[in-house]
Amino acid sequence: MKIIQVENYNQMSKEAASLLIDEISKNPSLAIGFCTGGTPLGLYKELIKSYKNKKVDFSMVKSFNLDEYYPIKKSNTNSFYYYMFHNLFNHINIKKTNIHIFNGDSKNPDRECLDYEKKIKRNSIDIQIIGVGVNGHIGFNEPGSFFASKTRKVKLSKQTLKINSKYFKNSKKIPTYALTVGIGTIIGAKKIILLASGKNKAAAIKCLYEREDPCFPVSFLRKHKDLTVIIDKKAGSLLK
Ligand code: PGA
Repeated sequence: MKIIQVENYNQMSKEAASLLIDEISKNPSLAIGFCTGGTPLGLYKELIKSYKNKKVDFSMVKSFNLDEYYPIKKSNTNSFYYYMFHNLFNHINIKKTNIHIFNGDSKNPDRECLDYEKKIKRNSIDIQIIGVGVNGHIGFNEPGSFFASKTRKVKLSKQTLKINSKYFKNSKKIPTYALTVGIGTIIGAKKIILLASGKNKAAAIKCLYEREDPCFPVSFLRKHKDLTVIIDKKAGSLLK
């Protein structure tokens, strides 16, 4: 794994944007796995800025989002569908037909996950952008998830519900399930760029660096042949 340690969140975002833009210039029809949460917001701002300055063209880029709450409607401002359009897709020239996000309102979540898994297999993800939860989860693969896990419906952990409920006006309205791309599927991406900022991510980053441990699912990414980890000083504070 390649670790790039930078000073702070802004530098992490700039570094990630520059790597991604470079990859898009080499392959304009790049298939990108996008994630949500606080971590990639700075990256998305940088991508929008570069697009407005004509430094990057998303017209052939394909996107596959990592996860979605279940059940949730696309129009719900807490859905990851809403997040992606609001924070990135509405501001760049990506084609709507090239955007793939779970339908968090599907009547048949298992079928939705099977179809999503197939879609990813057919396209194969060139670069997965990924954050990590305080508890080490990637996507919504919570602690205890299997290395070979596929795309599926999962129950959110108490810790994730507690952390994420702050985004909901009524914290009791947070869905207790989610649809997530599995760890085995994430590992199938050709390249992975992991971002982490802040002291509350330091334990998960330490584990990723030192050992494979199902208590921190992020540590399974150690197995990947092309993993770049971009962390700020605080997230890297427990590394020797
Ligand atoms: P965060 O979430 O970026 O909001 O810290 C990351 C995650 O839960 O994967």
